[in-house]
Amino acid sequence: MKKKLTLLLMLAMAFFSAGAQNISLQKGWRLSIGDSPTWSSPGFDDSGWQRADLSKSWEQQGHPNVDGFGWYREHIVIPSSIKEKAFLKDSLTFTLGSIDDNDQVFLNGKLIGEYGGLGGVITESHYGPRNYTIATNNPAILWDKDNVLAIRVFDTGGDGGVYGSFFNIHMTDVMEHVEFDKNHDFSFGDNNSLGKSIVLTTKNKYNYKGTVLLKVIDPETNAVVLTKKTDTAHFTEGKPFQWWFTFAAAQKKSYIVAYVFTDKKSGKSIYDRETTPYMLTPAVSKLPKINGASIFGARPGHPVLYLIPATGQKPLKYKVQGLPEGLTLDAATGIITGTIDKKGSYPLVFTVTNSKGSDTKKFTLAIGDNIGLTPALGWNSWNAWGLSVNDAKVRTSAREMAERLSAHGWAYINIDDGWEAEERAANGKIATNSKFPDMKGLTDFVHGLGLRMGIYSSPGTRTCGGYLGSWQHEDDDAQSYADWGIDYLKYDWCSYGQIAPQNPNLDEMKKPYLVMRKSLDKANRDIMFSYCQYGMGDVWKWGAEAGGNSWRTTGDITDTWRSMSEIGFKQDPAAPYAGPGHFNDPDMLVVGKVGWGPALHNTRLTFDEQYTHISLWSLLASPLLIGCDMGNLDRFTLSLLTNDEVLAIDQDALGKSARQYGDKEGVQVWVKEMKDGSKAIGLFNTSNKYQTLSLSANDPAIKGYTKFRDAWRQQNIPAVSGKVAPHGVLLVRVSK
Ligand code: GAL
Repeated sequence: MKKKLTLLLMLAMAFFSAGAQNISLQKGWRLSIGDSPTWSSPGFDDSGWQRADLSKSWEQQGHPNVDGFGWYREHIVIPSSIKEKAFLKDSLTFTLGSIDDNDQVFLNGKLIGEYGGLGGVITESHYGPRNYTIATNNPAILWDKDNVLAIRVFDTGGDGGVYGSFFNIHMTDVMEHVEFDKNHDFSFGDNNSLGKSIVLTTKNKYNYKGTVLLKVIDPETNAVVLTKKTDTAHFTEGKPFQWWFTFAAAQKKSYIVAYVFTDKKSGKSIYDRETTPYMLTPAVSKLPKINGASIFGARPGHPVLYLIPATGQKPLKYKVQGLPEGLTLDAATGIITGTIDKKGSYPLVFTVTNSKGSDTKKFTLAIGDNIGLTPALGWNSWNAWGLSVNDAKVRTSAREMAERLSAHGWAYINIDDGWEAEERAANGKIATNSKFPDMKGLTDFVHGLGLRMGIYSSPGTRTCGGYLGSWQHEDDDAQSYADWGIDYLKYDWCSYGQIAPQNPNLDEMKKPYLVMRKSLDKANRDIMFSYCQYGMGDVWKWGAEAGGNSWRTTGDITDTWRSMSEIGFKQDPAAPYAGPGHFNDPDMLVVGKVGWGPALHNTRLTFDEQYTHISLWSLLASPLLIGCDMGNLDRFTLSLLTNDEVLAIDQDALGKSARQYGDKEGVQVWVKEMKDGSKAIGLFNTSNKYQTLSLSANDPAIKGYTKFRDAWRQQNIPAVSGKVAPHGVLLVRVSK
């Protein structure tokens, strides 16, 4: 699997390594494919192993198509002088670039760090870089002598090995574990004020004492609109420093907050910055309102589960006219269940009532061969929890979705990698690992909330996280999913790379997906089939005909502007292939608290970048899969995910993706045709400066259209024109 080192991490690493005394680990490594317990031992003779090049994966060094185990070894002297010269003397950090995918690291035969599905404890983010810190009094370190560092790598598919940009051993720098903890959310006060705790934390025992200087900058004018300073910044391990600051009149747009902490004794500083949130989505009305798509597809004879999404003051009462025989409605919850045997298009009318009034909506239940007629709206565990997902986290997500999001159409709770056992049961059936003691019970719980349940596997022997895949057990697994009540399967190529021929042709690429398609067809359930093979062979051209409801068009996304915008604005070639029942999937959302492991952080996208992300993905008719901790949804993220006019663009029944209409330096324009003859248009400011973006009334995209509506603000506007923040968007719905 390919990983991305983000620019930010690289900068941070460069920053931390600049002052420190580094022992380079860039050269001198030897590599052997295979696995043996003796290879961690310092006495083992590795002189016969090939020399390794850390700028390349092992595939690029003469081991094409090798997935599974391989080892890297290096002899290194760790001079005690680095300890003597260091300002802090208590710990040593091993920075090991990227490791693809999972690893155990041994120093002189003793395990000093591990990550991933080798049975290791999952303590880090999946995409690295791997930084392992140990105490300087750890007996594994042989000061001033020959040390053997050995890395046992387990590659689950695609490229494998140890490679990347930064490899060194260094004394942990005084600022290395100091952080402005930006995970404390802003709070929204009266009169448009914002408040926030500035929090400084460290994992060092050192007593930090110094100054915090804070500046708030208006990105429109570059003026510093607020400066604050405190000399009371004292903190140490376990005792963070907190400083509350408020900022008046800050909620109309995003500002930049820049901080510097300077430690008095060491004289060192750390810098950080963030932006301030502002909410565009209007408050939800107390009047009843029915949201969500206008169509839902199911196959004849298969169980139907549909929750009528509606907002308004509770209690709400639901009514459905035209409900065909075989289906029942729970009038108190709005959940429709049952089965229909006969194909056909069933026109329904939903009515939702409360003490304030009522709302009605026409809806089509399409019973036929096609499901997933609008893009899936849901949650997936990966971008939040990575392999550390467990039953409790899934239940929390489901509960929160039911409480706060399903009223806007959100419906899927999808478990990604990390639920599977490492070995099959004796009867060949797939088994869960100890984090998922009762998959059927969990699925029943999710269904009870009116939500649908998704799961993950690979056509290879192993998933990307190193757990069991479905290879040669496709029928068994599809049946297990059906028995549990699963409604969605993400099927990730991963170690299938070992089974497929090198450079597979189109038929060879389709093969594992067609095999699972057949197995799913035998199960008596509607299971949405989501292909994940990173866009190989222009999958958008054949994914639908090969039975997919969606297919990933790219590698993995991460929470940076670069990653999100490069993926999002490159979707035009795939755009013509989206349609009801089969959508392009440019990967899951990176808003809210993400982490790819147990430790989460607020997304590194600015607030305007998050507006761009949701707008662009909706224009692209992409599945919207929230990738954050649902148990910790802050007000901004919630407002971002509950804008019904924006979601309606994604959920439009025509199922078309926007096309790229304009692409010039600093501006992107994307236009999506909608079922009612209107268009949704995104004008994106990809530059670093404020810009006024407009389409003139004569522009062919809007000629003849007279009504313009700002979708985020849910307000009519006189023209397709507006001031747009750096990396932000104006999202407009135009109609005749
Ligand atoms: C990757 C995939 C991710 C996630 C991960 C799990 O290949 O693209 O979305 O599913 O595997 O190990």
